[in-house]
Amino acid sequence: MEQVHEGDVLVLAIETSCDETAASVVKNGREVLSNVIFTQIALHAQYGGVVPEIASRKHIEKINQVIEEALAQAGATLEDIDVVAVTYGPGLVGALLVGVSAAKAVSFAAGIPLIGVHHISGHISANYIEYRELEPPFICLVASGGHSHLVAVKDYGVYEIIGMTRDDAAGEAFDKVARAIGLGYPGGPKIDRLSKEGDPDAIPFPRAKIAENEYDFSFSGLKSAVLNYLNSCQMKGEPVCQADVAASFQKAVIDVLVEHSLHAVRRFGYDKFAIAGGVASNSSLRAAFEEACGRRNIRFYCPSPVLCTDNAAMIGAAGYYEYLKGIRSGYDLNAVPNLRL
Ligand code: KG4
Ligand code: ZN
Repeated sequence: MEQVHEGDVLVLAIETSCDETAASVVKNGREVLSNVIFTQIALHAQYGGVVPEIASRKHIEKINQVIEEALAQAGATLEDIDVVAVTYGPGLVGALLVGVSAAKAVSFAAGIPLIGVHHISGHISANYIEYRELEPPFICLVASGGHSHLVAVKDYGVYEIIGMTRDDAAGEAFDKVARAIGLGYPGGPKIDRLSKEGDPDAIPFPRAKIAENEYDFSFSGLKSAVLNYLNSCQMKGEPVCQADVAASFQKAVIDVLVEHSLHAVRRFGYDKFAIAGGVASNSSLRAAFEEACGRRNIRFYCPSPVLCTDNAAMIGAAGYYEYLKGIRSGYDLNAVPNLRL
């Protein structure tokens, strides 16, 4: 391998926590040599959401092929790999188990260390790939289909959770509202697109405040408000402008995410703010943060959309920093569906 030199660390990373079967080779935690993602979205779309049993079965079918492709695209063989990193939680237990088992097999066969990685730590670490100069500390908003966390990244792999959702995750709200207005799964990208044709101030949807923790989020009230709005239009026989609903809902989510995030940046006194997770690929959200951070002289980091949604490169980046700290997993590593950060 010509692009690898003495002392470089090559991580083979595996991610199967939900509906993407993914493998990647990452050099020194920052340089992506390959990033292979087999997405199952089309398979699940007909059911309106991810069907766990189908996801596990598809992961089993695809995992070896995806790993081989990741190695081939990196121009590497298992002999070049120094460590194998894998998402072991949180996520769907059957889906996680496929990745964990594959990683154990690779580790054992190649005689290289195994490192279990937290999925959210992976999402946050996508920023290290996009921005090779980025170093902690910074505040990161992780907004995905399963999580909405505001995290203080104090050092590599050292996190303090400042706020989280009390009910639905931001992405979950996008998916549910999209289904209610008839857009189908996955809702995020569809609402993102449709919102561009709508008026974000057309319908005054609520912005939830949580009394006990000003950094926490709640999106279920907003989701109910959208459903109530749709019902009342139907009862009154009034037409619904899908684009206005999408844009107004999206603005309500973004307003809360921006306000809480910048509040957290101020409290910690950091000058860096990053976003991560599938919802972070939302174009209006990126623009809103860009503008809000710019006004306050906060440096804003937003990974490319392909690094925001689930992928294995981000797991490789997170795994590398665990590796440097000497952290290793044993062959008793298990999938932990509700793993805490
Ligand atoms: O991070 P991710 O790929 O998987 C989880 O770890 O959950 O996030 C998937 C979520 C889905 O809810 C999807 O609707 C949402 O991210 N999403 C978006 C966009 N692209 C994906 N939400 C808003 N706007 C988008 N452009
Ligand atoms: Zn994710």
